[in-house]
Amino acid sequence: MKNVLVVDDDEKICWAFEQFLESEGYAPSIANSAEEGLRRIAADKPDVVLLDVNLPGMSGLEALGEIKANHPGVIVIIITAYDDVETTIEAMRLQAFDFVPKPIDLGIVKSTLERAFRTQSVRSTLPVEAADASPTAQVGHRLVGKSSQMREIYKLIGIMASNTMTVLIEGETGTGKDLVARAIHTGSERKEKPFVPVDCGALPDELLESELFGYEAGAFTDAKREGKPGRFELADGGTLFLDEVGNMTPALQVKLLRALQTQEIERLGGTRTLKVDVRIIAATNQELGEMVRRGQFREDLYYRFKRIALHLPPLRERQEDIPLLVTHFLQLIQEELGKPIRGISTEGMQLLQDYPWPGNVRELENCVRSAATLSRSDVVLPDDLPSEIRMGNKVSATDASQLETTLKAVLQDTTKAAIAEGRQGLYEEVVAMLDKTLIELVLDEFSGNHSKTAELLGMSRTTLLKKIKQSSDADVE
Ligand SMILES: Nc1ncnc2c1ncn2[C@@H]1O[C@H](COP(=O)(O)OP(=O)(O)OP(=O)(O)O)[C@@H](O)[C@H]1O
Ligand SMILES: [Mg+2]
Repeated sequence: MKNVLVVDDDEKICWAFEQFLESEGYAPSIANSAEEGLRRIAADKPDVVLLDVNLPGMSGLEALGEIKANHPGVIVIIITAYDDVETTIEAMRLQAFDFVPKPIDLGIVKSTLERAFRTQSVRSTLPVEAADASPTAQVGHRLVGKSSQMREIYKLIGIMASNTMTVLIEGETGTGKDLVARAIHTGSERKEKPFVPVDCGALPDELLESELFGYEAGAFTDAKREGKPGRFELADGGTLFLDEVGNMTPALQVKLLRALQTQEIERLGGTRTLKVDVRIIAATNQELGEMVRRGQFREDLYYRFKRIALHLPPLRERQEDIPLLVTHFLQLIQEELGKPIRGISTEGMQLLQDYPWPGNVRELENCVRSAATLSRSDVVLPDDLPSEIRMGNKVSATDASQLETTLKAVLQDTTKAAIAEGRQGLYEEVVAMLDKTLIELVLDEFSGNHSKTAELLGMSRTTLLKKIKQSSDADVE
């Protein structure tokens, strides 16, 4: 039978897990502290461990480090609060399999366990690699947000921090690409080594080339006499962050690709080959895939980046993060301004949540900063907010690609919920709902005029009437 060990100091939770695991056909065992858990792992060799983070004595994360060092084959699922960013990043770096958020949802536990055992059976057919017993690193950067999209990002940051692969961070302006790149670096073993950013969009090509690769004395007329090391050399042992990488010209892209492949560079005007050990993180707010199709970005370089891509969702797709971000920024700003700010009024917060934030988190931060500065009391009120936000502009979904991303975000949640609840017939359910909502909206726009509605929807009146009847019948049922 499949062995599952639960490590949690809360006896009620343990009892509930025990009942549940037995009913699912697993063989459960229980430990109430990390120390006891480690002893049980050595003795019972469980397949999967459900490990709480907050434990008396040794913490869950320390225990995770020990488990992975001594029993690399054991799959560890962490039990933690939803919004604990640092723990998530650190636990993924230490190779936790996944998370079960508190309060505990048994549907999620069930699907996570099933995934864990599927992974284990695949893994048991592969050759075993040596375990990475790296010491724990503290992640200092503050990323805020507890939406499901951001929690996925924290996991990826943790995984990326544990290796040295090239990463591409994609996302609209102001979504936090810079912050994420730094979090990967500070979470990694390179954290004591330099993190060197280069803004590929800010410099003309010739300058960018000498910034990146450096130059030897006399390489060009006004080259300094002693020459100058490039950012590649400065980042040796650390991380080179290539921001706005889509702005590089094709000629420079070739040089970059060569440097990535060989981990060797030559300074401009030089003949020496210099070995460098550099981890590359690139970021872009352009669609690199689209640029490849248009011939503006090299396909081979794109695929090298694209192997690991981390896509930061725009703020409008994770409105639930807005209150947290606002509180976070108010705290920072209160220190800057040297005046106490208790918070923002409910109406003010609602306006911030309704706004589409084309400039994403950066725009939100600026808005909160100016509102807090202008505010004449210790509470931010709607009047302190810029007019476009007070007017409550809605996201325009006229742009098809935007509509698609919005829909995708919503459907992703629906799909996950359906899987967790073990529901069936999702396709019909969603399509019927979409059909009904769209028809209702258009009817509303045309004040119930069937001909105009049918015309806009591109269907015959008969079809429209049939659909209206179907959905009202369904409503009655
Ligand atoms: N999740 C987050 N939590 C807290 N602060 C955030 C978060 N995301 C972004 N920020 C803040 O928002 C601002 C913009 O973020 P950042 O510079 O990382 O964006 P970017 O994606 O690099 O933007 P650009 O494409 O314009 O360079 C920064 O001040 C950053 O600290
Ligand atoms: Mg940036």
